[in-house]
Amino acid sequence: MKTAIIFGVTGQDGSYLSEFLLKNDYKVVGVHRRSSIDTTERLDGCKDNPNFSLVCGDVVDSGSIYSIINTNRPNECYNLSAQSHVGTSFEQPETTFQVNAIGTLNILEAIRTGSHNTRFYQASTSEMFGNNHSVKPQPIDMKVTLKSPYRYQDESTPLNPRSPYAVSKVAAHNLVFTYREAYGIHASCGILFNHESERRGDNFVTRKITSYVASLKCGLDETGGSDDGVKSSVIRECVCWEGKDGDEYSLPHLELGNLDSHRDWGHAEDYVRGMWLMLQQDKPGDYVLSTGESHSVRDFLDEAFGCIGIEDWSKYVVINPKFYRPAEVDYLRGCSAKAELELGWTRQVSFEELVKRMVNSDIEKTEVELEEIE
Ligand code: NAP
Ligand code: GDD
Repeated sequence: MKTAIIFGVTGQDGSYLSEFLLKNDYKVVGVHRRSSIDTTERLDGCKDNPNFSLVCGDVVDSGSIYSIINTNRPNECYNLSAQSHVGTSFEQPETTFQVNAIGTLNILEAIRTGSHNTRFYQASTSEMFGNNHSVKPQPIDMKVTLKSPYRYQDESTPLNPRSPYAVSKVAAHNLVFTYREAYGIHASCGILFNHESERRGDNFVTRKITSYVASLKCGLDETGGSDDGVKSSVIRECVCWEGKDGDEYSLPHLELGNLDSHRDWGHAEDYVRGMWLMLQQDKPGDYVLSTGESHSVRDFLDEAFGCIGIEDWSKYVVINPKFYRPAEVDYLRGCSAKAELELGWTRQVSFEELVKRMVNSDIEKTEVELEEIE
């Protein structure tokens, strides 16, 4: 039985990867940092599995990392740990750099000095491209004629980081390349484009939107209020509507920042399969995982509100400048031709399916919460 260590096991990807590896007969050791409250909720599907265990460790504490790697002598090691919120990285650049760059260095050093032939996966990101892109002719099977050139990013697009988060990830990415070249370590980087899920952290834009849509849906169902604008009115801080009982009900606006940026959004479950495939190759390398489609935040709003039958979301959303970033990445669309060819990887979940799954899951969660309150 192979042993895998996952740093960042309590995160969105860590939980899906744990489940994937357990299903594939791995012994999984998850590393989580000490916290004053339980942060392992996403791991509920793994905790009872005898092949799953949790150990405490922090990637910025090199001693704890050396000890965990040398005690477990893993076949594979996945570094998913990060301060992963781009906006937060402008407010906490030092922590972001410590965790994302020095943390990666600590793991690489532990693997190098431990000499256990451990294969290593690094969570690199499309954010590293910044506003750089490559251009190619419009694909022949594309139904619409594009007004602008077909822009995309792949493994050969130059990196141009635009946030402390992206800079820290470029540093880690370059360290992995250096350790691969200098010491022959089987170390691969997955350059992953945005991937979301029912388990996405609630301060990322997709989950902010789907949990709001769920609250709106449950509130309207509960009161029998109308979403057609006839009975509802907008006041400064919230959207109000009149329930069937004649009482007035309200929900705060959904406050967002830049609605015009474009992202290539896929489902996390597809992406953890790609991480594992990279470590099964004879040779290490860098691979882009993406859907090849780009949607704006506005498109995401259309799709999510559309799931509950609302076409015009404008009265529910207000722009709060605090959610704008000092520097933005405007347009991401990946090209995963290398991963498709060498790993046989493709995404399975479409954009529409992703949004539907997130909205439905948030509606279920909200209904349970409402029942508990009653
Ligand atoms: P996430 O949900 O934010 O999870 C991050 C994980 O890192 C959490 O388990 C967190 O633990 C852990 N962590 C933070 N600081 C740590 C430290 N000092 N020591 C040990 N663990 C620490 O992120 P995700 O969406 O699953 O993403 C996984 C990785 O892929 C990240 O490195 C992210 O930057 C990268 N990535 C993500 C995407 C995406 O769209 N999701 C795309 C490209 C790359 P706590 O639970 O204690 O906070
Ligand atoms: N978070 C957030 N909150 N983003 C908002 C908001 C808001 O209220 N309003 C608009 N946005 C815009 C952001 O400015 C950005 O252009 C876009 O929505 C997506 O933001 P996030 O969901 O925070 O994701 P991200 O693209 O910045 O970063 C995610 O993807 C990267 C891969 O490209 C994270 O998962 C990173 O860890 C990952 O590396």
